Amino acid sequence: MSDGPQLATTRADLAAARALMRGPVVLAPTMGALHDGHARLLGAARTLAGPPGSVIVSIFVNPLQFGPNEDLDRYPRTLDADLAICARERADLVFAPTAAEMYPGGRPEVTVDPGLAGQRFEGEFRPGFFGGVLTVVLKLLHLTRPAIAVFGQKDAQQLALVRRMITDLNLDVVIEPVPTVRDPDGLAISSRNRYLSAADRAVALALPRALLAGHAAARGGADAVLAAARGVLAVQPALDVDYAALVDPGTFGPAAPGPALLVAAARAGRTRLIDNVALVLPAEGAGDAAHH
Ligand code: PAF
Repeated sequence: MSDGPQLATTRADLAAARALMRGPVVLAPTMGALHDGHARLLGAARTLAGPPGSVIVSIFVNPLQFGPNEDLDRYPRTLDADLAICARERADLVFAPTAAEMYPGGRPEVTVDPGLAGQRFEGEFRPGFFGGVLTVVLKLLHLTRPAIAVFGQKDAQQLALVRRMITDLNLDVVIEPVPTVRDPDGLAISSRNRYLSAADRAVALALPRALLAGHAAARGGADAVLAAARGVLAVQPALDVDYAALVDPGTFGPAAPGPALLVAAARAGRTRLIDNVALVLPAEGAGDAAHH
């Protein structure tokens, strides 16, 4: 194994390191607090880059995507542990800028508008979130100029919106989705899981169980999926559900027969979790399914 990745904290250092990189360059954008889900993301990036290519991991807790009442200050920052994981996954470069380095003029005046799909679901519950995500992703793409960028499927709406931005703004990068990693109890791994008490975690498990039940009911059509998922959620009233819905994977509008996503978001204690499962809806009875 090498000595670990090079660390760049400024745009100038990143540009100097990037100029020496051999392609394909693969970007794995993260907010740090790296866990097994990220390890999978970084592993996928390494495979896509191959031996000749280069992997850049960005670690930046992006203030632009946090609302005033969200957990920006509380968000875990674990750079040393993150660097060890990047080394283990054979990343070549870690770009870990400060907020002042990323936004030298403070909050940017010009930002990316995530459009209609960005107002639904997470966009409704977290106003401004996707504008912040897409703006920083666009900046990171410009700064690192990758051939490929990897994004986790756990953040399915983010993935869909990044893809839409790539298409709508003619960006020259391939987006590769990476499957969600789950703990043995079924909970999707997330940096925020560390906030869960044992009791919160027991409550949170209703979320993946509901998705599993919905998935198992897919052959029965959209109504059966939603009834199965909501049935599981209903027996855990301590889980405060924001939404559980069937959506089109690209637009997050109403799901149609064919590939669809069952998406859900809920709070266990003070911790908000999101999760999703892909399924295929049969032709019959699958229309008009994406209501809250
Ligand atoms: O998914 C994340 O960790 C963040 O939203 C991202 C893509 C790194 C942008 O800050």
